[in-house]
Amino acid sequence: MALTIITTSARPTADASILALFAQERAEQHPLAHFLSPESVRYLRTFVRSGFRNAKDEVDFVVFPSGKPPEAFLLGLGRKQDWTHRRAALLFRRLVGIAKSQKVPSLAVHLPSLLPQGMDEPALLRLAAMNLWLAEYTFGKYQKLSARQRRIQRVELITSLTPAVANRALRAAKIDAAFTNRCRDLTNTPAGDMTPQRLAEAARTLAHETGCTIRVLGKKEMERERMGAVLGVAKGSVQEPRFIIMEYRGGAQHDAPLVFVGKGVTFDAGGIHLKPRQGLADMHMDMSGGAAVLCATAAIAARALPVRVVALVPAVENMPSGSASKPGDVLVSRAGITIEVANTDAEGRVILADALDFAKQYKPRLVVDLATLTGSAVVALGQRYIALFTPDDARAERLRAAGEAAGDPLWRLPMDEEYESEIKSAFADVANIGHVRYGDAIHGALFLKRFAGKLPWAHLDIAPTMTPAEGQHLAKGATGTGVRLLIRLAEAISQERRGKEEGRKK
Ligand code: BES
Ligand code: ZN
Ligand code: ZN
Repeated sequence: MALTIITTSARPTADASILALFAQERAEQHPLAHFLSPESVRYLRTFVRSGFRNAKDEVDFVVFPSGKPPEAFLLGLGRKQDWTHRRAALLFRRLVGIAKSQKVPSLAVHLPSLLPQGMDEPALLRLAAMNLWLAEYTFGKYQKLSARQRRIQRVELITSLTPAVANRALRAAKIDAAFTNRCRDLTNTPAGDMTPQRLAEAARTLAHETGCTIRVLGKKEMERERMGAVLGVAKGSVQEPRFIIMEYRGGAQHDAPLVFVGKGVTFDAGGIHLKPRQGLADMHMDMSGGAAVLCATAAIAARALPVRVVALVPAVENMPSGSASKPGDVLVSRAGITIEVANTDAEGRVILADALDFAKQYKPRLVVDLATLTGSAVVALGQRYIALFTPDDARAERLRAAGEAAGDPLWRLPMDEEYESEIKSAFADVANIGHVRYGDAIHGALFLKRFAGKLPWAHLDIAPTMTPAEGQHLAKGATGTGVRLLIRLAEAISQERRGKEEGRKK
């Protein structure tokens, strides 16, 4: 889908115009109404009298002359004071469905009239472009083209920005959307075609495309690194593990990097604690965090943001077999901390333990790990928030704000020291599950904290947002959760850096 930019004074050339109306607004006064045929405008006047209330989510078509594709769509937005960037994002996503279902090849949308409180037009343009592209995405790799035929060709974004400013915003959105959708492709690929080795190859491709460096540790090298935790999870599978290290060096030579750690379980069968039937569905997406950190790093590099980023992904399959770790086994992690494998299905935290320890050598300014870690986080939050854990209030707020702005909302959950006793082990330094029944997501976070040590660290349990919630207008499968958040975080840090530099110049 091509997005083109035109200025508010020009006449739209798309097949149909979007007339999006807040409560009380009159359709014939919409900025795009006067470009319609006189018949359509007359129709609009009578139409408004016929009971279109401009209510939220109301949709109708202006079909004139009848039998032809619609010349305009009427969309209700509800009360203007309730208009937010979240609602705007959903509106742009809905446009894709509307155009497809009505077989309209191109649409024109007037952006200045859709500006939420506190947002500027470049940000709205990015929001529009991003959400149009996210909604257009389908996972078509294994289908003939015919199954995906109905496509929207073009959306004309009408803006009051200068072409230079508008194009800069569009370019950023294009990169961000492309890598978010790349993340969805990697995550949606079934486990048979997305082994640890294949994930590492995908990382190589991403790195080469964007000028990042990449190093992949194989089993031998991981043994040399004494990554006993990752190796302990991997040993039940015939697929050998990989440890992926992708780096982008933006910013100054000696900048402390942002380190992103992603869970790369390419299939989570549960191990000897084999998952039940329903539990296995979707477990090829247990590398969502890994895919997200790789794609976010690639996007940050493609955007040439002035930050240094390191992405670390331990990639394994968690399988039951004669060579698998057994319940009760004790693993010696890279940090030297011993782990009792009380439950082989709590494998995510185990592999992340070694990755977090590995992160320490970079002396990072911030470490964020992303993992589809627990069903418990989904129970707590439903499917609309990522669970955020960090001991530091300021860091929590900073991440929350970045997530909200990026469209990857986060909700903080507690990880107070009182919970710590619940993951004590009788024979090892720590157990990989709690011995009390409740609070799996919190136990996961506290387990990770043991390995993060003094790092400035946050843990994101992205199990809740791995697949779309109802009404999000996203294709079945992976959402690419976390990619936009991490890009946003890198943007915020770049801006801070620029601010400091300017301060120094003065
Ligand atoms: N990958 C799963 C968590 C998960 C569940 C992700 C549903 C996405 C959707 C994880 O490895 C797991 O199995 N967690 C266990 C932990 C338990 C054994 C403490 C769980 O949540 O049941
Ligand atoms: Zn598991
Ligand atoms: Zn898992």
